[in-house]
Amino acid sequence: MQSELNRHFGIGESLVFVDGEGKLPKAIMRDSLGHELELYLFGATITQWRSPRGVELLYLSPDCDFSGTKPLRGGIPLVFPQFGGGPLPAHGFARTNNWTPTKSSTKPNGEVVLILELKSNEATRSIWPHEFSAELEIKLGADLTTTLRVLNTGSTEFQFQNAFHTYFKIDDLTSTFVSPLNGLTFLDSTKNRAPGSESREKVTFPGEVDRIYVDAPNTVTLRDDSRPLTFAIKKNNMADAVVWNPWIEKARNMKDLPDDGYKNFVCVETGNVAKPITLAAGSTWSCSQKLEYF
Ligand code: BG6
Repeated sequence: MQSELNRHFGIGESLVFVDGEGKLPKAIMRDSLGHELELYLFGATITQWRSPRGVELLYLSPDCDFSGTKPLRGGIPLVFPQFGGGPLPAHGFARTNNWTPTKSSTKPNGEVVLILELKSNEATRSIWPHEFSAELEIKLGADLTTTLRVLNTGSTEFQFQNAFHTYFKIDDLTSTFVSPLNGLTFLDSTKNRAPGSESREKVTFPGEVDRIYVDAPNTVTLRDDSRPLTFAIKKNNMADAVVWNPWIEKARNMKDLPDDGYKNFVCVETGNVAKPITLAAGSTWSCSQKLEYF
């Protein structure tokens, strides 16, 4: 049991810290409606979100590496301060650092809130020479809202990209689609980010899909007709939506994903990818994602 964490931040049945896989500290949050959420302090990664009936809404790979050295495969990893490949490790370092709880509370309407923090430290400075403080607020209720706040604590401006990299659990990839993305420009990451224009009303998954939809609408839906289940993905202060499914070949090459794991998830990510954010010294910036299901 994580007694220190429970003493400072635990709230009865609403928020408990336990030993997760690999003995990594894990928070379990429960709202008054019966929704449940699991989150690892390693990477501030939400690894599960359940409906009051116990339906799992997020995909977590059964081959996920919980050694505390690799990003967790599934749930909602946090991408910051870099998206994709670049000078930093893939998708940045937020998802491979240990975050610290700073505040927890329950609201009169039954929602439960946990706030985690990551500050620049020797390890981050050695690969990204900027001073910052990042805060992730997780609010669990009828919806799941995650808010990222970044404060530039240094004396010069810096740039960053960010994303909430959500792995939505689906039952049947062949009956799953994302909409509305028609009319949008996308950058195709399977073709060196070649630009294209989306002409389909429903974006389906007949093969590998890895696209950055630029300036996407603030609400996008992911529908699995087989369950049937619809997710509404709502973004605030983030320009883009990334749609990803690795399909057969890529999945085979991923150690932390079973060969047929690609059939059970689609990632729809909200973020600032095509155009990085510039944050002046002393300034704060924030964005949020709200997930609903019906
Ligand atoms: C997506 C990218 O966001 O994440 C893909 O668009 C990438 O190109 C995928 O393959 C998974 O990345 P990672 O680093 O978690 O394996």
